[in-house]
Amino acid sequence: MANLETKYAGLTLKNPLIIGSSSLTGSTINLKKFEKQGAAAVILKSIFEEEILNEYENILKDADSKGEKDHNLDYFDHKIKEDNLSEYITLIKSAKSELSIPVIASVNCISSHEWLYFLKKIETAGADAIELNIFYFPTDFKKSSKKIEKNYLKIIKKAKASVKIPIIVKMSQYFTNLGDMILKVSDTGADGIALFNRFYKPDINLEKKEIIAADIFSSPHEYVIPLQWVALMKDKMDTSLAASTGIHDGDSFVKLLLAGANVNYIVSALFKNGAEVISEILSYLENYLDTNNHTSVNEIIGSLSQGNIKNPKYYERAQFMKYFTDRKDII
Ligand SMILES: Cc1cc2nc3c(=O)[nH]c(=O)nc-3n(C[C@H](O)[C@H](O)[C@H](O)COP(=O)(O)O)c2cc1C
Repeated sequence: MANLETKYAGLTLKNPLIIGSSSLTGSTINLKKFEKQGAAAVILKSIFEEEILNEYENILKDADSKGEKDHNLDYFDHKIKEDNLSEYITLIKSAKSELSIPVIASVNCISSHEWLYFLKKIETAGADAIELNIFYFPTDFKKSSKKIEKNYLKIIKKAKASVKIPIIVKMSQYFTNLGDMILKVSDTGADGIALFNRFYKPDINLEKKEIIAADIFSSPHEYVIPLQWVALMKDKMDTSLAASTGIHDGDSFVKLLLAGANVNYIVSALFKNGAEVISEILSYLENYLDTNNHTSVNEIIGSLSQGNIKNPKYYERAQFMKYFTDRKDII
């Protein structure tokens, strides 16, 4: 049987399947199920900087309406941070005591100050690495992309400087020049880069004429989004890569490894199909490696990246022109 061991963000993992961050990874009961099915590491649900700040703002409003004095507020600010953080620290500690696979904490941050305080505590609690889930939704259309990108890089550099454990950066695909931004993130010294994060999207309920949440789960065909970018970036930097989005089965899991992912994150597939999808994907991978006479998973990682194929342009094609000239569809 082929060796599935791989390395990601400085961690040695027994296989390339990581459970990505979501509400599912906020419970040690679930985490144990994922480990039992064969997951190589888990990324805990994110602790949100925004959540902490919103909570603080609500208390401020409440205090304001009651005419309370300002000097109480410093206490509230401190207490809210402590409560949220201590809950998260408890999760890290219990995950570390119940699991033998690496436990990665996840911090959602949008500014470069509040969360720095968390990172050291997370490290002390025993997390094996920290994933930064940084996303700033640019509603100020006058703010230049350069300024926004600079802020991202500042956050990552500060995070790298504040802890010794590996820092993973989970990126969105919404950058003007995505490849350039990925390289800049790599240059910060980030230990791993995950492509891509997924975000809340609004939708409309036609009957009620109300704004509702769109379907939050990915579809299986979306794996082609990280596939293209993993393949494009693999040979241009040394930072290890994770693919995340649309990986629901063994087929897409193997394809992302061939494109160049050192590991793949699974999330929506767990919500849709339960924890058993983990062992199904791993069996598929083992079978694929054995059938193709590979002795280790490392033999296939990146074997079809842009730098390893005859026509690198295949990963750069953006228009459908050729696709349509070759097809004779009749409807
Ligand atoms: C219900 C749900 C909750 C999520 N929560 C988080 C989160 O707290 N932090 C985070 O970094 N990503 C979060 N994600 C994004 C996932 O970690 C993952 O990157 C994304 O869903 C793409 O992978 P998938 O196609 O396997 O779902 C969440 C995704 C879903 C569907």
